Amino acid sequence: MAASRIHAPVDVGLRLWEMADAEELAAMYAASATELAGEEPWCGPDFLTAAGQGERVRRCLADEAAEGFVITVSGAIAGHLSLDRIRRDILQSADIGYWVAPRARRHGVATRAIGLAVAHAFDRLGLHRIHATTDLDNAASCRALEANGFRRVGVIHDFALVGGRWRDGRLFQLTADEWRSLSGGRLRTRGGAGPGGFES
Ligand SMILES: CC(C)(COP(=O)(O)OP(=O)(O)OC[C@H]1O[C@@H](n2cnc3c(N)ncnc32)[C@H](O)[C@@H]1OP(=O)(O)O)[C@@H](O)C(=O)NCCC(=O)NCCS
Repeated sequence: MAASRIHAPVDVGLRLWEMADAEELAAMYAASATELAGEEPWCGPDFLTAAGQGERVRRCLADEAAEGFVITVSGAIAGHLSLDRIRRDILQSADIGYWVAPRARRHGVATRAIGLAVAHAFDRLGLHRIHATTDLDNAASCRALEANGFRRVGVIHDFALVGGRWRDGRLFQLTADEWRSLSGGRLRTRGGAGPGGFES
């Protein structure tokens, strides 16, 4: 897909990832190897290498049902965000997922990046609905979603197999109509270091 760049007025940006990002992505994940092993146990040793990241980016770029982004803070990569399972049938939907490097957390980065991705999904891709699923105890992820207008739909039992144990997931959704009525169709990010969101 054609490269495009999405910017917030502060210093958080979101742009489609490119093969040239593989090395910086690998360095970011390698610096967070301990946290990743706990949070994302599916990430094997390859995930921490430039070759592994190159393969991940290549697969995503070849997948018409997915868009992968790097989240940037002051231009440097500080996380990733993806729109997966993009459906162009009667659902017109996508799943959103994201990860912010530990060093960049609690500065509103995920909140802003989700807002930028939502605007992209509804305004540029023309989707109708975005889903997200979080661990029940992932307060930060729940708050970042709710700050962008997502609402809780329910709990999916035995959603993900993590560490040999099935975990429940909390399902969120946001439709284009809900988002437009909340935001007037335009994301307004606030200045300063705190999490952004919609202003009425
Ligand atoms: C979840 C995650 C993306 C949040 O990223 P972040 O950039 O730190 O999030 P934000 O700074 O935008 O914070 C969002 C909200 O959560 C709160 N928050 C952040 N970390 C928190 C924590 N550890 N405990 C409780 N609340 C927390 C923030 O205060 C903010 O709330 P507020 O708007 O009421 O002030 C990040 O912690 C992460 O990458 N975790 C591992 C991967 C993951 O869980 N991905 C999501 C899968 S669904």
